[in-house]
Amino acid sequence: MRALRTRALRVRVLLPAGLLGIAALATLGVFFPGTDAAAAGHSDAAKIVLNPSLVTTKACGTVNVKGVTGSVHNAGNPFKSSNRFCLNGHLISYGNRYITYRNPPQSFIRAGQLLFAQTCSSCHGNEANGVGPDGQATTGPPIQGLGAATVDFWVSSGRMPAADPKSVEAERRQSRLTPLQALELAAWVNSLDPAVPAVPTPHLQGANQSVGQDLFSLNCAACHTIEGTGDSLAFGTFAPSLQVKNITAQQVVEAMRTGPANMPRFSGNLTDRQVADITSYVTGRLQHPTNPGGFALGGVGPVAEGFVALLIGVGGLVLISFWIGERT
Ligand code: HEC
Ligand code: HEC
Repeated sequence: MRALRTRALRVRVLLPAGLLGIAALATLGVFFPGTDAAAAGHSDAAKIVLNPSLVTTKACGTVNVKGVTGSVHNAGNPFKSSNRFCLNGHLISYGNRYITYRNPPQSFIRAGQLLFAQTCSSCHGNEANGVGPDGQATTGPPIQGLGAATVDFWVSSGRMPAADPKSVEAERRQSRLTPLQALELAAWVNSLDPAVPAVPTPHLQGANQSVGQDLFSLNCAACHTIEGTGDSLAFGTFAPSLQVKNITAQQVVEAMRTGPANMPRFSGNLTDRQVADITSYVTGRLQHPTNPGGFALGGVGPVAEGFVALLIGVGGLVLISFWIGERT
């Protein structure tokens, strides 16, 4: 009797208390995710702010940060990121455990300059400033000060060199240059007016696809549709399909952080963690929509899932009827 009562006490008091404790810990986790908030609050004594969009430190040189808005920590601004590495007046890398942003090495600049002269300067000018040899405006816009990620995105997604400079919107194509050449071009263009974003590498191991899906519905679906199939926008422009499987995780981050053409730039309003969640959703469930949803059961397929549902459902009902029977 006594043993029974202690057991009842265990179930009635300790179990709910335990569950409550776990729930409380989970809530804490939501409000204090990791150590980022604390780590990001570090002060930088060497920082001299000359102009709101130009940040200078001795080690980092002058970095044009007009591409990142707001003062949100870990949202793409190197000077508000958990980690930053500068050397000899150059910004080398920054970021956190969700995304690392890296500038291509200085040693790439020379090759990039030659390649640019051959493949890009006819439309963007010798100095990438939109000025042609006779001082006239070039077909392509000035592209200095946009950050290495912008150049890498346009070249690696095959949009540049432009197939048809008169088209309303450059389309994604098989890239005509290698990933290395894209980085070389990015290194040279960025050396003319060092800016951010640098080229991102997302770390998606810990990313949350469900959170990413909600953020996608809020921020992206209006143009790309909820399924990511893409849609036409005003004046003959369009938001491309995101289900295209060769859009890499890196390019998804680059698109969000740089805002190509008519796409808005997402900086400040989305943290690197949120960007990683969205990227994980796009390159995961969106590009591979075979999973009908719900608990995947290791992807064994809808028939097996239905069977398991039947087993759990009917099995549960049987147990409940036993229990009711027992009481009466
Ligand atoms: C035939 C002309 C042409 C060539 C060659 C060309 N571009 Fe472009 N580029 C354009 C035009 C036109 C645009 C604007 C397109 C648009 O907005 O859709 C553009 C846009 C860009 C942008 C985006 C600018 C922005 O404001 O976001 C980048 C970056 C770029 N080009 C880099 C390059 C690089 C690097 C090369 C060489 C590999 C190159 N382009 C070759 C015509 C050209
Ligand atoms: C206002 C409309 C709009 C919104 C909102 C928008 N996009 Fe885009 N997106 C575009 C357009 C337009 C392009 C094509 C740009 C170009 O061709 O240069 C694009 C291009 C892209 C690409 C490149 C795909 C390719 O073909 O290489 C990716 C990836 C992308 N968007 C992801 C996103 C994500 C993720 C979000 C939400 C955080 C988002 N977009 C929000 C309009 C939008």
